[in-house]
Amino acid sequence: MKNYITFPRVAGTASRQAHCDLPKGTFEREFGREGFFGPCTHLHHTHKPTGWVKWEGDLRPYAFDLNKLPNTSNTPWNAIPMFHNATCSVRWWVTSGKMDHLVTNAESDELLFIHEGSGDLFCDFGHMAFTAGDYIILPRGSKWRLECKGTAQILLIESKYDGYRLPDKGLVGPHAIFDPAMLDVPELNDAYKAQMDTKEWQVVMRRAGKFTTVTYPFNPLDVTGWHGDNLPVRINWRDIRPLMSHRYHLPPSAHTTFIGNRFVVCTFAPRPAEMDPDALKVPFYHSNNDFDEIIFYHMGQFFSRDNIHAGMVTLHPAGFSHGPHPKAFKLAEEADAKRKPTDAPKMLDEVAVMIDTRESVEIADDIQSTEWAEYPQSWRE
Ligand SMILES: [Fe+2]
Repeated sequence: MKNYITFPRVAGTASRQAHCDLPKGTFEREFGREGFFGPCTHLHHTHKPTGWVKWEGDLRPYAFDLNKLPNTSNTPWNAIPMFHNATCSVRWWVTSGKMDHLVTNAESDELLFIHEGSGDLFCDFGHMAFTAGDYIILPRGSKWRLECKGTAQILLIESKYDGYRLPDKGLVGPHAIFDPAMLDVPELNDAYKAQMDTKEWQVVMRRAGKFTTVTYPFNPLDVTGWHGDNLPVRINWRDIRPLMSHRYHLPPSAHTTFIGNRFVVCTFAPRPAEMDPDALKVPFYHSNNDFDEIIFYHMGQFFSRDNIHAGMVTLHPAGFSHGPHPKAFKLAEEADAKRKPTDAPKMLDEVAVMIDTRESVEIADDIQSTEWAEYPQSWRE
């Protein structure tokens, strides 16, 4: 625990509870450290913190439309680089059919998020079917390949030099936000046995950015038994039961699903909107001063965003305030005004994957052509 200088004070007219009971006509901005865990001040502004009229320079909000990227190929090593820093990289892989080789990532644990498509994963530990909405973690050093039914679109998130972990569940206990017993592992089933053969197979490995190919006169996925706890795991967002409070908009950290090396992966899954008339219904404006925020939009209506559709990704680097788009903000306000205490909660159906990185990320040239250049201006009223 860092020994920050903390001494809460109050100035002017202020609410006593974050994200609730805001002084009339003000807009709250959270100015925090350590993601949503450190020292933090809530400022009540007269104008929306996203009310800028012009941006000049590279520190700005970015949006990219991955639907505009070409198909890649049947190896993850050709996936399109999107964002990277020293401990994390995010790539986009559009693949179809059957991989004719195995791959081993010898420097990173690999997290696959299946945006579209389905198929079968074969790895050292057996066979596992996959479908849209699955997260699959492959520990570094695993040999694996995919057989896709049609085309699959996959987000690849690498944790370099350290593996994925589950977050501390604290007050809510180990069975939130999904029970670890829901994590599926590969099986040594008939599908796995059927793919064993004595043909020539190649394993393409990557370490320190360099590739090495090793040839075997048999399929090295030939395991007949195993025991242990260093395994690939799978969980679908549909098995995630998001935390929520009817009286308080929980910060994104409440949706932390996995922790990588100096980054976190959070899942925004469908949930009811807050019901308390004086609680915020859209994400609060905030400056997440220690993390860059990448959000990939998977499906549903992205309730805090205007003009964002599935398959898009946004990057909000640390250093400036961001928050809901005007239309989303207005809709939430109007819904609030009409709401009776007996009304059923409004259901929010968005599914999105957020990757918050401690160090700033670089944007790969490969996705520049898909940028929605007007995004910084999309908060204009
Ligand atoms: Fe944010």
